[in-house]
Amino acid sequence: MIVLGVETSCDETAVSIVKDGKEVLANIVYSQIAIHQEFGGVIPEVASRHHVLKITYVLEAALKKANLEAKDIDLVAVTSTPGLIGSLMVGVNAAKAFALANEIEYIEVNHLIGHIYANYIEKDFVFPLLALVVSGGHTELVLMKDHYQFEILGQTLDDAVGEAYDKVGRVLDLPYPAGKPLDDLALMGDATYNLPYVYLDKDSYNFSFSGLKSAVLNLVNSTKQKGEAINKANLAASFQNSVVSVLVSKTIKAALEYKVKQIIVAGGVAANKGLRAKLKEAVSKIPNLELTFPKFEYCTDNAAMIAVAGYFKYKLQVK
Ligand code: KG4
Ligand code: ZN
Repeated sequence: MIVLGVETSCDETAVSIVKDGKEVLANIVYSQIAIHQEFGGVIPEVASRHHVLKITYVLEAALKKANLEAKDIDLVAVTSTPGLIGSLMVGVNAAKAFALANEIEYIEVNHLIGHIYANYIEKDFVFPLLALVVSGGHTELVLMKDHYQFEILGQTLDDAVGEAYDKVGRVLDLPYPAGKPLDDLALMGDATYNLPYVYLDKDSYNFSFSGLKSAVLNLVNSTKQKGEAINKANLAASFQNSVVSVLVSKTIKAALEYKVKQIIVAGGVAANKGLRAKLKEAVSKIPNLELTFPKFEYCTDNAAMIAVAGYFKYKLQVK
């Protein structure tokens, strides 16, 4: 079964073609990052307009790359939520029009479920599994007992992890999106700054990152006011250490409590090298527990993950 995926929920215009939920035949991503960088964040109106300008070209490029025609596509899957409403509409309308004009089946997919299914490209799922979803807009621990069955064990009460990275990166004068540069900087420093580690209630699988973010912003401001210099690499390392320690600790606790056989990590922050290393180390101490990360190109927004999620949703006839 050949699925064409479409993703326009934020600032990436993406079309991908995936065979049987596994084999990526084309993965075209037109990133608007350079356009939004000068504003230090995504401007929704600008994002929608660029999706309109690019979507047809990206769709044609995907078909060309896969060496396929519209008649070869069995299903069109598109991100319908969550995301920037104007941006989502561009992808949904383009996908619907393409499906209708070529008499192809059409299905709508949740963006976060897409992030989870990015892992399937890398490895088959072994249930029960635990998904740590860490993106720019969401932070969740999700238990899956089977395909397309999701139970949210916990989530952030305020900022998402990616959001905290972007805001902390901004005060450290890093370019938007700051996740990767902050991760790179953290690896060059030592965690010497005293920052909060927010575990909330011991039994809770919820998260909170706004206090940590505020602590970093206050520290930068008060240091500047005193005319002292910040050691940016050490501050980045301290911030990353706090985030990663909390994420890994809650993920491992949930994995043991629910006796999962596999942990998968989803969303842009799944690319974080500090998180990958610490989680790998923790999982290696637990017998019969697999750990899967998507390839770097499938961590941040892409349409291959949407095609894979669409494939399963269609096959299982999920409403
Ligand atoms: O999943 P994603 O592409 O978009 C949403 O669905 O929100 O995630 C984007 C987020 C941004 O906040 C970006 O700064 C963060 O992922 N990110 C990272 C890294 N690479 C991307 N955060 C930490 N470390 C990274 N290496
Ligand atoms: Zn995303």
